[in-house]
Amino acid sequence: MTREKILEFLRKKQDYVSGDLIAGRLNISRQALWKHIQELKDSGYDIVAVPHLGYKLLSTPDRLFAHEISSSLATDFIGKKIYYSETAPSTNEIADALAMKGEPEGALVVAETQTKGKGRLGRIWFSPKYKGIYFSLILRPDILPSQAPILTLLSAVAVCEAIREVCGEQALIKWPNDIYLNNKKMGGILTELSAETDRVRFVVVGIGLNVNNDRKSLISTATSLKDQKNETVSRLQLLRVLLHRLEENYLLFQNKETACIIEKWRHHSLTLGKRVKVYSHKQHIEGQALDVDTDGGLLVRVDSGITKKVMAGDVVHCR
Ligand code: BTN
Repeated sequence: MTREKILEFLRKKQDYVSGDLIAGRLNISRQALWKHIQELKDSGYDIVAVPHLGYKLLSTPDRLFAHEISSSLATDFIGKKIYYSETAPSTNEIADALAMKGEPEGALVVAETQTKGKGRLGRIWFSPKYKGIYFSLILRPDILPSQAPILTLLSAVAVCEAIREVCGEQALIKWPNDIYLNNKKMGGILTELSAETDRVRFVVVGIGLNVNNDRKSLISTATSLKDQKNETVSRLQLLRVLLHRLEENYLLFQNKETACIIEKWRHHSLTLGKRVKVYSHKQHIEGQALDVDTDGGLLVRVDSGITKKVMAGDVVHCR
């Protein structure tokens, strides 16, 4: 808390602030202040100290510290409570445990790296430290389990909107929730549900994005924003904007404006209109991806001319 207050002082002034002034305002000794400044420097804050002038903040590290996300976060309930860790097994696992204990809607779990990052269908999500964005959001919508797929679609829409706003890049969605840039995967969403037959207890929306990964560290089918733009992207800014977009789209959902979410999803779709193969545990179908239904299912016209709906599975776009 003290360190956050020190940062607040330095940020507001954008110039040298005397140590006496900060220590006096925070009611701490000069020595305690010096110690806090050293700790801030160790966490990556570039702070200079000049005799008779005081301290000046030169730059802030691109770390996803809770207080950095919160500062200038334009949301009402998403990210009001943030659990940050440098290393987590999986943010979805932590969020799930927190939600079980009653953590409120909007709480966020963020990590700089994951040792057991989970992807869909039991896959691993590669989460190199300080390179990507890995977080999980707890939601408590009053819905039936069958309505949950829309949460995944609206999250994918929010990701595309945030990437557009921050980086000017046109990300697209491979049904249901893979984020693509130039035909390579740069992000994914893992939505996990805790539900009874007719009631959702809570939902954990886990989002992983490749942001500043170098091309040589990525497999040939994957990309990152840095790989596409040839420049480093502020993860902090992207995350703040994404949380805002998630809240906006979630509110649309709460206000029963699902049609608007689906329309936006269509606009960002990489899948619609393509010939696809869909693998699910029940069936394997091939045909033309026609549309997404109001419940988020993918409508595929198979070669016999019949239209089938798939609610879950792995899509392969055919050439
Ligand atoms: C996929 O495309 O298969 C979904 C990937 C989801 C990865 C994110 S990273 C943050 C959150 N925690 C996890 O363990 N997984 C999700």
